[in-house]
Amino acid sequence: MTDDSKSHIRNAFDPERFRETGHVLIDQMADYLTEALQGGPMPVLPWIEPDAMAAAWPADFSPEGGEVLNTLMARIIREANHLHHPRYIGHQVPGPLPVAALCDMVASFLNNGMAVYEMGMSGTAMERSVIRWMARSLGFGEPADGVLTSGGSVGNLTGLLAARQAQAERFPDALPAVLVSDQAHYSVLRAARIMGLGREGVETVPSDAGFHMRADLLGECLKRAEARGRKVIAVVASACSTAAGAYDPLERVAEFCEQNGLWLHVDAAHGGAACLSERYRPLLKGIERADSVVWDAHKMLLMPALVSSVIFRNGLHSYIAFEDKASYLFERAGQEEWFNLGHRTIECTKWMSCLKVYAALRCFGTRLFGEYIEYSYDLARRFAEMLRAEPDFELATEPESNIVCFRYLPEGVTHPDALQAAIRKRLISDGSFYIVQTQLRTGLHLRTTIINPYTEEGHLRGLLEAVRAAGNALR
Ligand SMILES: Cc1ncc(COP(=O)(O)O)c(C=O)c1O
Repeated sequence: MTDDSKSHIRNAFDPERFRETGHVLIDQMADYLTEALQGGPMPVLPWIEPDAMAAAWPADFSPEGGEVLNTLMARIIREANHLHHPRYIGHQVPGPLPVAALCDMVASFLNNGMAVYEMGMSGTAMERSVIRWMARSLGFGEPADGVLTSGGSVGNLTGLLAARQAQAERFPDALPAVLVSDQAHYSVLRAARIMGLGREGVETVPSDAGFHMRADLLGECLKRAEARGRKVIAVVASACSTAAGAYDPLERVAEFCEQNGLWLHVDAAHGGAACLSERYRPLLKGIERADSVVWDAHKMLLMPALVSSVIFRNGLHSYIAFEDKASYLFERAGQEEWFNLGHRTIECTKWMSCLKVYAALRCFGTRLFGEYIEYSYDLARRFAEMLRAEPDFELATEPESNIVCFRYLPEGVTHPDALQAAIRKRLISDGSFYIVQTQLRTGLHLRTTIINPYTEEGHLRGLLEAVRAAGNALR
């Protein structure tokens, strides 16, 4: 290496440069946070067409670099979707707790992966405690255990792989199938495809008018799959569903699974956190009978992506999805070395995602999360009342979580779906609100998730007015 190359590398690692840039960066983020939380004129989403955005971030990297990081970061912050803005009422992605973002910075900086204990010792211990806290909060007993994964989609795949493995011991030659509600998140169907179950391997369970799984039809669905020569191994329930936020009747589904020897996987990626509120915990009644549960901390625990958990009622099941030998990593079988988390996850390099959850619990306690759930779930109910009082709006269904779907339907509308899509497009391109849309069986709906604790009733009233104004201008 030449002296010039050495000095270039040293410059890139220079602690004083890091200190200066970092101090300015924290100021930049704190200034953004102050402005965003106030909900002022800053656009929620400063919409830029994809091709224009691609042109604005070219690949014309020079050998010498020279860009000032803080200038780059100012631009990133300005051009972002501003999730901390109270008029961000869109996807199930929170403006995270600032302390969690700091933790992610430290996790990135230390880069202690956690598939093997010696690469992330304190992280491994923290993850164990986070999983234990989550498992106990859901109502599981002492034997429960699990792992943090990079996202609910990976979590659903992990749970279903474990289900197949557990059932394979009983039915080694069977062609497996799973029973899945028509409201399940697409990652469940994707997991089934990845597992090679094929179309025949997924039996769709219809949902009722409120978008809950029809538990009374499970027997019929089981017979249908069996008639096709399939052995049903598991039922996947949602708590809650993505589109309309409906909680499936877990007790009835659990009863069916127990009677028929089926694995129950509950996708509680969004709604698992309801267990932290005394008032909303009944929505999850029966979840403690599930064999596996997915719960995303990067949804209703105010964490930045990605941090999800897969929890198994019988902790030994947390090892069965990925039983591999890798002599350069592991010395013994999974159960014998709980501390090598790579035994339980598809990931080899494993992100220290537990740090932010552990630190937030330590710094703010568990109460913060229960209060946050109650605030957002309560506000969704008040928003529904607001919508019901307006004759030109239609509520899709009574909200059970913090997801509210509705349509603007003034008299004489001939193409209601096209109108909803055009309204949303207008709101997001003028930057006033960020909301999303979803196709329900009754048509295309505007969809909101009240996920920002700074969103108040006034913002929601403002949303109704903005939707009405856009709708009337577009007709
Ligand atoms: C119910 C449900 N399950 C799974 C997922 C997928 O989770 P992730 O985006 O963390 O992969 C989502 C995401 O919205 C969801 O709502």
